Amino acid sequence: MEKMPYAEPFKIKTIENIKQTTKEERIKKIEEAGLNLFNIAAEDVYVDLLTDSGTGAMSDNQWAAIMQGDESYAGSKSFFLMKNTINELTGFKFVLPTHQGRAAENVLFSALIKEGNIVPGNSHFDTTKGHIEFRKAFAVDCTIDEAGDPEIDHPFKGNINLEKLEKTIEEAGAENVPCVIHTITCNSGGGQPVSMENIKAVSAICKKYNVPLIFDSARFAENAYFIKIREEGYADKTIKEIVKEMFSYGDGMTMSAKKDAIVNIGGFIAINDEKLYEACSTFNIMFEGYLTYGGMSGRDMAALAIGLKESTVYEYLHSRIEQVAYLGRRLEEEGIPVLKPFGGHAIFLDAKKFLPHIPQSQYPAQVLGIELYKEAGVRGVEIGTVLADRDPITRENRYPKLELLRLAIPRRVYTNNHMEMVVWGCKKVMENRDNLRGLEITYEAPIMRHFTAKFKSL
Ligand code: F0G
Repeated sequence: MEKMPYAEPFKIKTIENIKQTTKEERIKKIEEAGLNLFNIAAEDVYVDLLTDSGTGAMSDNQWAAIMQGDESYAGSKSFFLMKNTINELTGFKFVLPTHQGRAAENVLFSALIKEGNIVPGNSHFDTTKGHIEFRKAFAVDCTIDEAGDPEIDHPFKGNINLEKLEKTIEEAGAENVPCVIHTITCNSGGGQPVSMENIKAVSAICKKYNVPLIFDSARFAENAYFIKIREEGYADKTIKEIVKEMFSYGDGMTMSAKKDAIVNIGGFIAINDEKLYEACSTFNIMFEGYLTYGGMSGRDMAALAIGLKESTVYEYLHSRIEQVAYLGRRLEEEGIPVLKPFGGHAIFLDAKKFLPHIPQSQYPAQVLGIELYKEAGVRGVEIGTVLADRDPITRENRYPKLELLRLAIPRRVYTNNHMEMVVWGCKKVMENRDNLRGLEITYEAPIMRHFTAKFKSL
C-alpha cells in the first residue's frame, strides 16, 4: 500500500514574529557576549534550539484552560483537574505540584536521600545529580556501554545495564540505596529511550532488594512513542496504554512539566507510598507552597492537565519525533556528523568528528555552537568539556567521552523550513571548518561555569 506523507496534526492560530540579523551583527553580538550563547538576547536569535524545556507552544485548549484557572489557595479546582489527569495517566496515587522538575527532585530527595547514600540510574540529568551530590550522596551511572559510542545504532540506548545495577546495589548494601532513578527518555545520553523490557527488569531487581524505583519522567511520552514503534509487542497498543504500563513497574515519578506536558513552567511528584507522601508534603510546603498549588498558579495547573492529554496522543508524537528525525536525516545527507540513533527531543552534533583538529582542551563543541550562531542565527547548547566542568578536588578539566552540540527542538514551535535553516548553517560551518580555532576560558565561576563563562579565540 502506498504510504501517505505525514503532516502536523494541528494548524497555526497565532504567531510570534522573529527576525533575522546579518552575519556582521551576529559576530558583534557574540563577541560582546564573551563567546557564550547564554549571554545572547533571545531577540537576536533566529532559530532557538537552546532547549526544549518550557519553550513549547500551548494549544487553544490550553489557553482556554488558562482563563478557567482556579486561583484558590487551598483545594483549587485546577489542582484536582491536574491530579485526576495524573492519576488516570500514570496510576500513581499521590500528587504534589512543584514549580518545575528540579523542585520535585529537591522535595522528594529531601525525604528520601541521606548522606553517603548511593543512587544508581542511567546518566542522571545535571540537576538530579546536583540534588543527590548536594546531600553528600553519590549518583552511580549504570547506563549500558553502547550509550558511549555515538555510532552504534541501538534502539534503546537509555537502558540500564542490569549487571552493573545489581553489582552497585550489592556493593552499597540495599539499605544504603534509597531509590533507583530511571530517566525516560535519557536526556544526558542523547534523548535516548528506555525499553519496556528494561523497565520491567530494573523493576524486578528493585523489588528483589526492596528499593523504590523512581522515574525521571520529563520526556515520558516520547519514550512511550519509541516503545510503540521499536519494541516487539507494542505496535498495536495506544500511547496511553504504554504510559500506564511503564509507570506500573515503578513506585513514583518526578516530572518537569516543561517538556512533555507542553507548558512553560511547572512540575510534580507522583507516588504510591503514603508515608513517603506525608514526608514529602512537609518539604513541599516549606520549599514550594501549599499542597494544592506547590509553586504553580491555578491556571498553570489547568494548562498542565490539558498538555498531558495532548502529548500522549500518537499523531502529535509522530509529527514531533519525525521533525527531530527530519533534521537528523538532512544533516546526515549533508555529511554532518550526528549522534545515532536520533533522540526524541534533540539532534546532537559530534564535535570531535566535526572539528578533529581542535583538541577537547580547547572546547570544540563550544566553537561549533558559536560558529553556527554566526552563520545562521541558530542557537544550540554545548554538552561537552565546558559543561563537564572541573574535578572538585584536583580542579582539572573533566573530559567527557562525547563532545556534543545539542540542538533541542521546542514542541509545536518551528516548521521544517526552520530545520532547513539549521542544516544550511551547519553546512556553512563545515565549509569553513579548517579555518576555525579553539578557545581559552578567560572567566569562569567556581561551579556551573557553562552559564556564565567567557572565552577568547586562540
Ligand atoms: N530531568 C530531566 C531529564 C531534564 O531534562 C530536566 C531539565 C530536569 C529533570 C529538570 O527539570 O528544568 O524543570 O527543573 N532539562 C532541561 C534541558 C533544562 O534543557 O534539558 P527543570
